Amino acid sequence: MKDVYILAIETSCDETSMAIVKNGKKVEALTILTQMDTHANYGGVVPEIASRMHTENITLVLEETLKKFSKKIEEIDAIAVTYAPGLLGSLLVGVECAKTLSLVYNKPLIAVNHTMGHIYANNIDNDIKYPSLALIVSGGHTDLLILNSPDNMEILGSTIDDSVGEVFDKVARVLNMPYPGGPNIEKAAGKGKNSYELPKPMMDETYNFSYSGLKSYMINLVHNETQRNHKININDLACSFQITAVEELTRKVEKALKNTGIKNFILAGGVSANNYLRAEMQKICEKYNVEFHVPNILYCTDNAAMIGCAAYPLFKARKFADFSLNAKSSENIKNYVEKNL
Ligand code: KG4
Ligand code: ZN
Repeated sequence: MKDVYILAIETSCDETSMAIVKNGKKVEALTILTQMDTHANYGGVVPEIASRMHTENITLVLEETLKKFSKKIEEIDAIAVTYAPGLLGSLLVGVECAKTLSLVYNKPLIAVNHTMGHIYANNIDNDIKYPSLALIVSGGHTDLLILNSPDNMEILGSTIDDSVGEVFDKVARVLNMPYPGGPNIEKAAGKGKNSYELPKPMMDETYNFSYSGLKSYMINLVHNETQRNHKININDLACSFQITAVEELTRKVEKALKNTGIKNFILAGGVSANNYLRAEMQKICEKYNVEFHVPNILYCTDNAAMIGCAAYPLFKARKFADFSLNAKSSENIKNYVEKNL
């Protein structure tokens, strides 16, 4: 069978990224230009600045990606792009770029949901097995789902308020750590001990998650201690927070593995770069004799290679988009699965 090369574009948040992926697995070229340092000055992503920077950088990222590719752009089979969810202005830059390339080179256009991209990052160094239980933990999402096949997925639960990544970022901010907070919390936690008693997030019987209570508790604790001139042990607090936040995830994953009997588990999304989370999930999987997969850290946070992987089954099914494709800021995985799978 002829090899399929997909050029993929990802601009949903603060990374301008392009990749060329062969047969939904092999990353032939990848460029990730992050705006992190700029947004760090404001303590978080500023949407208006993000979209302007994507506009400035996208052509350079395309040029750089094509330089890394051993073939000509004409040999690419399709153009894939993240159209949802994310920051609207940022998504639009990628969508317009993809449509233009599709028109100029007469290649089919493939619309990819960003969260599906995170899931498919697991196809790069491994093959996703079916059925798998999947946990997606990112800056925007916390979702637990069953992957029955590439076109049959079931949502078991989602966060009912904040996402876990968002809470890592908020807690880091209140502890005066730079954006993005997740990696800084992880670093501090590694030097601390679990000495703060924190509320357990959601001790219910569903597969849903809730992080707003833990977030508020952390913010109030830091403010109260600061007002009283009490010294906060930042490393210990980060360690206790990380353990509590991860426990919420492992508890629900353990319950799902027990109840479904599924023998494959995949972890995905930016927060899956966290080594403590990876190790805790690995332990649960060992306990239930479940195969554990997580992408290489490079493919956990936002990148276009994962979009190229997620586009491949759509290419094979000839599910192409037309030029009426528009960006959607809020189409999460639940809406996507309900509409498409
Ligand atoms: O998937 P991603 O790159 O973007 C979204 O789709 O949201 O995820 C970004 C999130 C941020 O909240 C960031 O703080 C978090 O992933 N993150 C981490 C780590 N690395 C990134 N959280 C905890 N520990 C990490 N090492
Ligand atoms: Zn993401």
